[in-house]
Amino acid sequence: MSKPTFYISTPIYYPSDKLHIGHAYTTVAADAFARYKRMTGYDVWFLTGSDEHGQKIERTAKEKGQSPLEYVDQIVSGFKNLWEKLDVSYDDFIRTTQDRHKKVVQDIFQKLYDQGDIYKAQYEGHYCTPCETFWTEYQLDAEGNCPDCGRPVEILQEESYFFKMSKYADRILKHIEDNPEFIQPNTRRNEMISFIKSGLGDLCVSRTTFDWGIQVPFDPKHVIYVWVDALTNYISALGYGAEDDSLFKKYWPADIHLVGKDIVRFHTIIWPVMLMATGVALPKQILGHGWLLLDSGKMSKSKGNVVDPLELCDKYGVDAIRYYLLRELPLGSDGYYSEEALVNRINIDLANDLGNLISRSTSMIVKFIKGVLEEPETPKDKVLLEQYLDSQEAPVEDRDLISLALRTRSEVEESMERRDISGALAVVWRLVGRANKYVEETSPWALAKNPEQRGRLSTVLYNLAETIRFATVMVTPFMPNFPGMVWQQLDIAGQPELHVWEALEWGKLPAGTPVAKGDAIFPRIDLKTLEKE
Ligand code: MSP
Repeated sequence: MSKPTFYISTPIYYPSDKLHIGHAYTTVAADAFARYKRMTGYDVWFLTGSDEHGQKIERTAKEKGQSPLEYVDQIVSGFKNLWEKLDVSYDDFIRTTQDRHKKVVQDIFQKLYDQGDIYKAQYEGHYCTPCETFWTEYQLDAEGNCPDCGRPVEILQEESYFFKMSKYADRILKHIEDNPEFIQPNTRRNEMISFIKSGLGDLCVSRTTFDWGIQVPFDPKHVIYVWVDALTNYISALGYGAEDDSLFKKYWPADIHLVGKDIVRFHTIIWPVMLMATGVALPKQILGHGWLLLDSGKMSKSKGNVVDPLELCDKYGVDAIRYYLLRELPLGSDGYYSEEALVNRINIDLANDLGNLISRSTSMIVKFIKGVLEEPETPKDKVLLEQYLDSQEAPVEDRDLISLALRTRSEVEESMERRDISGALAVVWRLVGRANKYVEETSPWALAKNPEQRGRLSTVLYNLAETIRFATVMVTPFMPNFPGMVWQQLDIAGQPELHVWEALEWGKLPAGTPVAKGDAIFPRIDLKTLEKE
């Protein structure tokens, strides 16, 4: 039987010189969903890419004495480098300058024009001559000047093509209202409903003031508006309309377009209306996440307050950065980035809780039972285990720990279905906390002193090792590196069948496994020393 499919995308990024930790957040979150779905049996397609057209790029390239393509080429290789560093497991990287993309954008534009959904008219806007940019009234700054350079603007008209969005207003509103999952979280959904209800005008979809874009096929003086160009990437990358459209047939409609809240409107109104007009099915969900802010506001290059994810990875390790991003920010909300909060997460959650559980358990196994796991008293058979967990005879702390481990699996699954990554991590950490408490409750060091308690000691240490395996499997989609070290310490690196989601059944860790005490997986960080350095 073929696997169910799951198609997830990130936005395609503008080639600004450097991507910051806020951008990394979007992509790491998408990667976590992609890895989780792969682990739980889906055939996943994960798309990211770059949004390479527009006046800004044309201008910056000129300033640098480069062609726009030369300029974006270097930046795009920087993107790929960052995603590699962050272990982003994308399946395809689409560039809007690729022919496979340009052709689809032009074909759709032509089709919409032919069927009368695109028409030519006068566009009137506030024009900034030095920036050569049109602005709408509400884009202007508080003084009514250009939001980019602050200089006065003038009202100018230009000939443009318009897309009849208004014709589809009722249909898109009905779709959003009838399909609560289409826009998530609900706050974003409500914002979009009131936005549409306040009236949907037609959209200006071409420009003549710059050249760096995809030409209108029947009127090459015009280039196609960047959002129409950019949004199409989600289907052009799958080969929509191409000779080989097998990926499109297989993966479309997308399961999730993950985007920041600033671009939810483009994705939930312009994009679906374009698809409706083209006759293509709509994506199943637009998931709008919050922003990672700094005390000084939203990170942006112009404000000079960006935090570089590459530097952070070098300093703290990729898994730690991924963990921090995914745990700290509940997906729909904004959150504040601070290095102190990052170091606290590393020291408390990773070093104290998870790291300590692993190092104290492995060292006790080495010290008290010569490093080899022994057969526990707990039954492994599913039915017998259930009876055991229900019985009053088994030690209450064992019943508690094992049933929590089993429950954690289903709670992680439920959290991920709710698109709640931070919640999924929180339930795994509850298990880690429970296991640390179990160590205190069972005091293996005391059991080790009494040879009559050998059976109990073996069971306790086995339960700890098995809980570590459970927690490690469950955090694999979020932190893909550290599990390898745990598998080595548990000596099951060569048994991949024990690292998979399906293996989250109690008792699969074999007795006889030689456990090794390794280096601390997450060493503590001393912020003061670090600052001095
Ligand atoms: N090119 C468009 C997207 C086109 S998709 C068809 C774009 N690019 S972007 O580079 O400006 O932003 C890419 C993503 O990064 C967006 O989802 C945006 O919300 C996200 N973020 C940018 N700054 C961010 C934070 N400070 N915090 C969280 N996400 C941030 O928009």
